[in-house]
Amino acid sequence: MMMQKVKPHGLEKLNLEPSLEPSLEPSLDSDFFSQEILNKIKTDISQAWPESLNLNDRDIDNDFLVREIKKLLKIKDAVLISHYYVDPALQALSEQTEGLVGDSLQMAKFGKSHAAKNLIICGVRFMGETAKILSPEKNVFVPTLKAECSLDLSCPSDLFKKFKAANPDRTAVVYVNTSAEIKALADWCVTSSNALQIIQYLSDQGEKLIFGPDKYLGAYLKKETRADMLLWQGFCVVHEEFKSAGLRSLKQAYPEAAILVHPESPEDVLEMANCVGSTAKLLEASKKLDNPVFIVATENGIFYKMQQASPHKKFISAPTGGRGATCRSCAHCPWMGMNNLKNLYECLLAIPDNSSNFNTLEALTQPYEIKIPEEIIQKAALSLNRMIHFSQ
Ligand code: 13P
Ligand code: SF4
Repeated sequence: MMMQKVKPHGLEKLNLEPSLEPSLEPSLDSDFFSQEILNKIKTDISQAWPESLNLNDRDIDNDFLVREIKKLLKIKDAVLISHYYVDPALQALSEQTEGLVGDSLQMAKFGKSHAAKNLIICGVRFMGETAKILSPEKNVFVPTLKAECSLDLSCPSDLFKKFKAANPDRTAVVYVNTSAEIKALADWCVTSSNALQIIQYLSDQGEKLIFGPDKYLGAYLKKETRADMLLWQGFCVVHEEFKSAGLRSLKQAYPEAAILVHPESPEDVLEMANCVGSTAKLLEASKKLDNPVFIVATENGIFYKMQQASPHKKFISAPTGGRGATCRSCAHCPWMGMNNLKNLYECLLAIPDNSSNFNTLEALTQPYEIKIPEEIIQKAALSLNRMIHFSQ
């Protein structure tokens, strides 16, 4: 059976045709942010797209994989934790096996509190790393270690270290969409669920901040809290693409619609929102608000849970590039899309059980297991646990 790729919604009505061609513009506002970083992101996206679209796996028997994955989760003492952006087939499996579908904060908390020996994280690599840092005693696996995030890629630790060293009087706050090394350099970690409250708290304490990597989330936090913040110039390739002009036209076509926007989006798109928030907050808003139609500026994997919770409401993807324009993501994260039933099944097969030959274990689990040096785990746990305790 062929895997279904989720298509961007709403564009038909506006006659906007997305292209998948990457077209990164340089954005050199920071001394530490370079063309080299942009080139790295561009190369990684080009490699992620074919795997994300499952071009080579059209003959896979999904029903077989679903049955086997359910059995293997039990045999291997594993729990499946999925982000809202992954393939609906994976989200459904998490639901059916008493795992979790959640935002990045919910995923982190669930993994830490769950009794299973093996955590399987369907999302992107930083989500697996976060789970490992919070639960170093557990084994953490991901269906593919190649699932990156443009925010993580846009913030190399050697350059962020220089940014921090150039501002020794400032507290370093980093978004959870970063590597373990960046978290180890930070004083605080935040997710989109708790960033406003944490930045407000720090600002009220009189602290001056550096924030990275997302320049849009950073600008939004700065505007809302009036905190004294210097911003790294990273961006999410999915959310940066939402366009206010297209959104205005779509709102005219659907005047009854509420607009839901993730804070990684540009300021002019955020200004049009009825609700700005993390994926969990946007899902809640889609349940609570009475509007019959929702225009959603975030990754379109979220439509699975939105539509499930409100089957009679209509959900439309906010427009990205227009005709003739280029669109890097088209409301689809190429790295989230690299998670699929096949690599999840292969990942579970590689996890040892009691009958395994221990000499071959490392080689088998290597493509899936999150490994982080002990000293990085210890340092990164400080900023992450500070956030977890703040959010309890
Ligand atoms: P959430 O914190 O809302 O899950 O967002 C994570 C993410 O990667 C958004 O692009
Ligand atoms: Fe990273 Fe954006 Fe993908 Fe989220 S949607 S994982 S921020 S690239």
